[in-house]
Amino acid sequence: MVFEIILLIIAVLIALSIVYSTARFGISPMPSSKKAYQAMIKLIDETGSGPIIDLGSGWGNFVIPIAKRYPQRQIIGYEMSLLPCLISTLIKHALGLKNLTLYRQDFLTANLSTASVLVCYLFPAAMDKIKIKLQLEKPGVEFLISNNFALPSHQFDKVIQLNDFYKSPVYLYKLNL
Ligand SMILES: C[S@@+](CC[C@H](N)C(=O)[O-])C[C@H]1O[C@@H](n2cnc3c(N)ncnc32)[C@H](O)[C@@H]1O
Repeated sequence: MVFEIILLIIAVLIALSIVYSTARFGISPMPSSKKAYQAMIKLIDETGSGPIIDLGSGWGNFVIPIAKRYPQRQIIGYEMSLLPCLISTLIKHALGLKNLTLYRQDFLTANLSTASVLVCYLFPAAMDKIKIKLQLEKPGVEFLISNNFALPSHQFDKVIQLNDFYKSPVYLYKLNL
């Protein structure tokens, strides 16, 4: 009985932690779909060999497979939600992914100038903030790949429309800010 109560308390704390971070950051740690992931990989294949930053890396569903796929590339993830950040960090260590660095930090306060490619799956208000950050800081990033949400006032260079119910877009922008 005590064991069940402890499990229940842990489950409630996990749920509360996710609800809190979803309310605070405007989006849950829901991973990109398999189809979106495949489209993003296709676009990443066109971006050379420079470092990749995932803006909001969630549970690591994107950064972990890409760190395995591109062992020669540096992969970085920023994630504010505590539990997804902890779990993805544990998996990174368990798999010994030396080219993957995960930070529990707001990507809006991060130095993005080390990145060649930014990847994200966010929401319109966050895309606005990314646009302003890129314009103000001009970090010299070459590409932005966004699952589902466009970068305001920018013309994409490529779009892959997913074969899903919403025909969701995955955008590639070449940034020359
Ligand atoms: C929809 S998930 C995407 C996860 C992963 N990138 C993927 O494509 O599978 C978006 C994540 O961004 C995180 N996030 C939102 N705003 C953030 C911010 N300003 N700094 C860090 N993480 C943020 C959320 O906590 C959430 O886990």
